[in-house]
Amino acid sequence: MEELEPSELGTHEYWNHRYETEIANYSAHGDAGEIWFGDDTVERILRWICKTPEIAKDSSIIDLGCGNGMFLIDLSNEGYSNLLGVDYSEKAVELSRNIATAKGYNITYKQADILDDLEGTYKVIHDKGTYDAISLSENAKENRQKYIVNVKNIMNKDSFFIITSCNWTQSELVEHFKEHFQLHQVVPTPTFKFGGKEGSVVSICIFKRI
Ligand SMILES: C[S@@+](CC[C@H](N)C(=O)[O-])C[C@H]1O[C@@H](n2cnc3c(N)ncnc32)[C@H](O)[C@@H]1O
Repeated sequence: MEELEPSELGTHEYWNHRYETEIANYSAHGDAGEIWFGDDTVERILRWICKTPEIAKDSSIIDLGCGNGMFLIDLSNEGYSNLLGVDYSEKAVELSRNIATAKGYNITYKQADILDDLEGTYKVIHDKGTYDAISLSENAKENRQKYIVNVKNIMNKDSFFIITSCNWTQSELVEHFKEHFQLHQVVPTPTFKFGGKEGSVVSICIFKRI
């Protein structure tokens, strides 16, 4: 499997610096910052969660690499109540807490590196763009493996792992995760055609643990 070229998006410094700026923007203008992969992608994921009967309103949901924490706010607006966001950037956690507190949401945000051990098991494990960032780190191959094992360890056989990626196609994600995960469903995303070949800009895959 070919790895991606390492980039600054794969570093802790980059994200801390970025969220530091976003904290300042939020306090000056109330702007929560970037919605990665856009509102349409978020809508598609939310719709899938809301129409999945196995996911109750009080099911435990963890957002890996929660960034500004807005995805959990969207889930809270849909009535989900057992929400935890983790991010290795302390500035992301600070931004998430600032936004949730200002808006009166009861959501837990915690600093944690997904490549260290994570605690507990969750019904839903959500990742939008975080595996992508880890894939751009130095030692990406080793880090991706750690990520895959750590996610597996916070799942039981009834858990759903929802991953959204723009760096990897659906078939690449299936290949990466196949040792411990099976593809449960794909959330359709807009496709484009180039040179007769059809592809998606963003892939949203739901996996279950084997
Ligand atoms: C592309 S951003 C996506 C943020 C958020 N999921 C969203 O959709 O808005 C990637 C996020 O992953 C976080 N991240 C990267 N590597 C991480 C790691 N090893 N542990 C925890 N968070 C990490 C970054 O700090 C950043 O917030």
